[in-house]
Amino acid sequence: MKSIQLNIEKALYYAEEEYKSNEASARAAISNLDECKGAGNDFHGWVKLPTETSQELIDRINATAKRLQENCDYVVCVGIGGSYLGAKAVNTALADNFEYYYAPNPKEPKVLYAGQNISEDYTAELEKLLTGKKFGIIVISKSGTTTEPAIAFRILKELLEKQAGKAAAKDLIVAITDAEKGALRTLATQEGYETYVIPDNVGGRFSVLTPVGLLPIAVAGHDISKLIAGAKEMEESILRPSDTNIAEVYARMRNALYQSGKKIEILVNFEPKLHYFAEWWKQLYGESEGKDGKGIFPASVDFTTDLHSMGQWIQDGERTIFETVLSVKKPSVERRVPEDKDNLDGINYLAGKRIDEVNKMAELGTQMAHVDGGVPNMRIELEQLDEHTLGGLIYFFEKACGISGYMLGVNPFNQPGVEAYKKNMFKLLKKPGY
Ligand code: PA5
Repeated sequence: MKSIQLNIEKALYYAEEEYKSNEASARAAISNLDECKGAGNDFHGWVKLPTETSQELIDRINATAKRLQENCDYVVCVGIGGSYLGAKAVNTALADNFEYYYAPNPKEPKVLYAGQNISEDYTAELEKLLTGKKFGIIVISKSGTTTEPAIAFRILKELLEKQAGKAAAKDLIVAITDAEKGALRTLATQEGYETYVIPDNVGGRFSVLTPVGLLPIAVAGHDISKLIAGAKEMEESILRPSDTNIAEVYARMRNALYQSGKKIEILVNFEPKLHYFAEWWKQLYGESEGKDGKGIFPASVDFTTDLHSMGQWIQDGERTIFETVLSVKKPSVERRVPEDKDNLDGINYLAGKRIDEVNKMAELGTQMAHVDGGVPNMRIELEQLDEHTLGGLIYFFEKACGISGYMLGVNPFNQPGVEAYKKNMFKLLKKPGY
């Protein structure tokens, strides 16, 4: 896929032998995914999702989004983990950095997020913002039983029904959940909400290309057909094992680095709009690989911002890290550094240069410094931030994650460790049955 390029040259030097020797294991992992074999194969539904997404589903999602856009100034997306991170990643990457400081326009609601924490302040402040406002809710939970979104939904539903009346509120709430199971399915059926199904064979962190991500992305005004088209182009371009399959190459390189003692991967961006993309990526890799006492720890930084906070550690700290840089080739606008006749700040040497040129030189200078400091560096270049490229990037990371998890020898599609805190919390809160 032309709009996404991977370069591993500055990482290969560190673990060339390990890279050369892991081809067979990567190829076995790819055939597991291709032929729906291997641990967790009942959660392989995402593998063919882009090619299998029907126009009918896209049209229906766009129609629901239009209804919410026409009737709401705010749409609150209620969900946690895989049930919100993908939508937030794409919506943030495609939005104006300052969108939340502008008032909502008619038919262009602001998409807000709730149910990702149990903060009383967050909940109360959201209620305060929405009081007297026209708002709708997209409530998303695959299991339909997760505590954080259940609390947020109960509160927001009550507010919406109080403000709009129960009958009107029904048309402003959309539930995305399991086809049959779970408390949210029961509630949606009883209340008569419009619903979408999260396919049984797609786990939460692989669900952004289902209605879980597509509806909130469409509500925010983005073109989900282009997102799916980008994912589909990537699906086709990394279908077969080969030395040019970028999902295979990325999975092999990170596996080789891990085997050589690099236990932490830092996903770096030089574009603040990608901050939440890194949050989505951390969940994808963290929940998929961190088990059985194994797994690369996925971390992230926003540069150049964090060069002034984490830069020291990355340059000189314990040598257990490698970096994967997301670099956006073309900004969406052109802006240059102005000339100043007094030049008191001493930056006239930059006058007339595009801000992006300075950013790119910061990126190159950082790469050179970090590689010199013993931090192997992979670089993923994105042509620009648009729906098509982001769809491709999502699918690329998902496929590489599946390959990487199998190479590591874990089931990449379960998350047994997530239950431990819940059991303790339920016991402490005296939930019946605990
Ligand atoms: O990836 C996962 O499976 C998890 O992160 C879930 O998405 C998260 O726990 C939310 O679960 P649910 O959608 O069932 O509320």
